[in-house]
Amino acid sequence: MKIFLDTARLDEIQQAVDWGVCDGVTTNPSLHSRAVAHEGDNAIGYRERILRIADIVDGPISAECVTRTTVELIAEARELASWHPSVVVKIPIDGPGLAAIKALSEEGIRINTTLIFSLNQALLAARAGAAYVSPFVGRLDDIGENGIGLVADTVNLLDRFNLPAQVIAASLRNTDHTAEAARVGAHVATIPFPVLEQMQRHPLTDKGIQAFLDDWHKAEAALRAQPVS
Ligand code: E4P
Repeated sequence: MKIFLDTARLDEIQQAVDWGVCDGVTTNPSLHSRAVAHEGDNAIGYRERILRIADIVDGPISAECVTRTTVELIAEARELASWHPSVVVKIPIDGPGLAAIKALSEEGIRINTTLIFSLNQALLAARAGAAYVSPFVGRLDDIGENGIGLVADTVNLLDRFNLPAQVIAASLRNTDHTAEAARVGAHVATIPFPVLEQMQRHPLTDKGIQAFLDDWHKAEAALRAQPVS
């Protein structure tokens, strides 16, 4: 399973790249807005942000459309895709979105279909030519549905019918979500930075490191205390 970072913050992306665990990035208007608020007086616009991310990460970077008709989506997607070869255009699933996905994928523009909440939506996006489909796990769990179940079903559907789209498990909220996404075979998990940090941790690792250090110092002290012969 590849790891994308689900953020628009450059500092978080740089840290994940330094850790060697960032295969790509997904952004959306809300993440851009949060990054702008975090950056304050040094905030940058969306185009500049995507270009700066492309300088940091060697992998797909999802940039999301904010228009609503097919004609507008096609024009906006072409513009986003022209910014950098790494750009994957995010388009929400609906009728105008599907028509745009068909036209754009025929032009060779890679599409990440977003806001997927059902297997039917995933099937339509994949059939229309999307390169990625993004089931939203956390938001489904929020309304009492099974988000990881949809990821598993989508992986199986694409495999059974030999559809080339890849599944991005999105809207992941915790480390159970990331582990489950891997277990059910998601091609990609897009992970918020705090969850990526949490994935490294285990209390037994901390305890183990401390015990090894204590024993090392004990051995060193015993060696220093030996009589000089
Ligand atoms: C990523 O592609 C999605 O936009 C993102 O994972 C949504 O996450 P949220 O449901 O936490 O906003």
